[in-house]
Amino acid sequence: MNRPACGRVCLYDQSPVTDDFRQSVLTGLARRPRAIPPKFFYDAEGSRLFDAICACPEYYPTRTEKALLQRHAAEIAEWVGPACLLIEPGSGSSDKVRLLLDMLRPAAYLPMDISRHYLFETARQLGREYPWLEIHAACVDFTQAISLPFAPPAVRRVAFFPGSSIGNFDPPDARHFLRRVAETVGPGGGLLIGVDCKKDRQRLEAAYNDAAGITARFNLHLLARINAELGGDFDLEAFAHRAFYNDGPGRIEMHLVSLSAQTVHIGGASFDFEPGETIHTENSYKYTITEFAELAAAAGLALREAWQDEEKLFSLQYYEVAT
Ligand code: AVJ
Repeated sequence: MNRPACGRVCLYDQSPVTDDFRQSVLTGLARRPRAIPPKFFYDAEGSRLFDAICACPEYYPTRTEKALLQRHAAEIAEWVGPACLLIEPGSGSSDKVRLLLDMLRPAAYLPMDISRHYLFETARQLGREYPWLEIHAACVDFTQAISLPFAPPAVRRVAFFPGSSIGNFDPPDARHFLRRVAETVGPGGGLLIGVDCKKDRQRLEAAYNDAAGITARFNLHLLARINAELGGDFDLEAFAHRAFYNDGPGRIEMHLVSLSAQTVHIGGASFDFEPGETIHTENSYKYTITEFAELAAAAGLALREAWQDEEKLFSLQYYEVAT
């Protein structure tokens, strides 16, 4: 593919339609247990709330991972090599990639995210800060497909998937996603991924129940979004945030708990809630390095190096697709 004529910052709108949101909410609320996929947290306000979570003292993943990226940027650059095509599914604020760009000097950066406005604003801002960098930002739902809007042939492709976003997938879906990443980067390609580690319950649960109540607002914002975009009448006071570690599957679960017997309407549909009934809004799986390396191996990715902080709270792992 030739370089498209769109300047140094190119924006591609393959935006998923509201239908996906409506369908997922209506089927998710009709199902037992009721569940709505976490990707719908991230409209503009949800993305802003998520960034606020990352700044909470209890939420250790972001600052721990950033410290790892900073500390090991040179080693990472050695593994990745110069002038790669750097792909970031679910790039959000593109905050972490900034810690690598000067060291990696990629040929192009391809952020992709479901939150269009946020993605495009970030891409433009990044273009101003890194005048030498070519950026191709695509508004896509990467859980559906990873489609590269632009890919010069014969450069090494490396995917960057920080933040333990992989934890949102159930392990079989995670394996499936990793296989798609492996196919996208191809033989000789790489994956730099951040994975949150198993640890004591207290530490984990505190991270999803911050004292300032930001995570609660983030969770409840999903209901506000349903009200605003799908014509729902959720009473946000009548639901409460709940997050706990489920050590069987090894995941944090987030739910919204109905505080009373109530009926909620969305468009023409109605849903009856009993007191205590929940909507499951997120899973966040935690892995030991060995567990995760096994999952990745099943997807064709070989672990080359893993970095951890002193407390072993979080890990950064580099994988390659065998040639
Ligand atoms: C973006 C999925 C990695 O699971 O820790 C943070 C999302 N939810 N607090 C996580 C989240 C509540 C976050 N991930």
